[in-house]
Amino acid sequence: MMTPEAYFGTGPVVMASAPGRVNLLGEHTDYNDGYMLPCATPQRTQVMLALADDGHHAFYSASLDEQVRFEADQAAPPGFGRYLEGCIRLVEEQGADVPAVRAYVCSDLPLGAGLSSSAALEIATLRALRLLLHLPLDDVALALMGQQAEIRYAQVNCGVMDQMAASLADEQHMLLLDARTLQHALLDLPNDSEVLVIDSGVARTLAGSKYNERRAECEQAARLLGVASLRDVLEPSVVEGLPEPYRRRARHVVSENLRVLQACAQHGPALFGQLMAQSHASLRDDYEVSIPALDALVALLSAHSAVYGARLTGAGFGGACVALCRKHCAAKAGQDVVPRFNASGHKARMVVPLA
Ligand code: GLA
Repeated sequence: MMTPEAYFGTGPVVMASAPGRVNLLGEHTDYNDGYMLPCATPQRTQVMLALADDGHHAFYSASLDEQVRFEADQAAPPGFGRYLEGCIRLVEEQGADVPAVRAYVCSDLPLGAGLSSSAALEIATLRALRLLLHLPLDDVALALMGQQAEIRYAQVNCGVMDQMAASLADEQHMLLLDARTLQHALLDLPNDSEVLVIDSGVARTLAGSKYNERRAECEQAARLLGVASLRDVLEPSVVEGLPEPYRRRARHVVSENLRVLQACAQHGPALFGQLMAQSHASLRDDYEVSIPALDALVALLSAHSAVYGARLTGAGFGGACVALCRKHCAAKAGQDVVPRFNASGHKARMVVPLA
């Protein structure tokens, strides 16, 4: 692995970073124009930039120990470079001239754990470009550009939650986000609570294909109900007349939006924990994005005396689970649960709080 000093020689011109996200409540609601409550991870991705004088973009990822270099008017080869190139192209679309740059990327965010390392990379890159080129872009504009970079250059048809969280959330609060209006507010965590995140170690293999399938099912459910998106359904019983699987998919989205709104209205940790448990059951039974390993991890977490509630977090099919714990008890709960879960052959590890 190369150090930034070795890579740049004279040192970078600008430096920026962005966190990953862990979503506490409101899963698979963003592409249905709904509500969610993510917060930022303590782990961050850092991007350093310097100008290049040879007409080539050159990017180095310290996490992957991988380097790409390509002519500035050409496409990046497949891989991590696509995320950075996507951000550069989005900035160019805003009318800015982006000179050839050298980028150094490093991160302590676990890759593939469902904590949105890609959104962290996009937002860190866009922040670095904003600094380098003095771009008049606010944090919401940056998030929307990051989302477009992901959709168009990394070919993941995601919603807006991850990039909004990477751009606007912090570790001490949850970001209440309305995906339709992009209105957002930082709310305190429930009283006397803190967040625990365990990466199950199970790779998110089906995440891409099933994600697109669920999106299409939701769009079809909205069409059948005659609404612009499932966010417009406020009365849960309305979905009961839909044919399967649309009935259950819509029931998840409609009930999940109500859970977020309820969690914001009455903020106690016990209720919040119950809503997390209901969210997991809904993701498992109605939305069908859980897997037995995540169900087992959530069951172990939920049985712990310091845990108010637990659920899978992110798209599902593997990756991480989040639990809301009594304050000052999250690390101990993680230390208790991880070995119990790993006794059945898994390779889970605690990612929040930091060891
Ligand atoms: C992924 C997507 C997000 C969101 C979640 C599910 O993280 O990138 O936009 O849809 O899944 O809530």
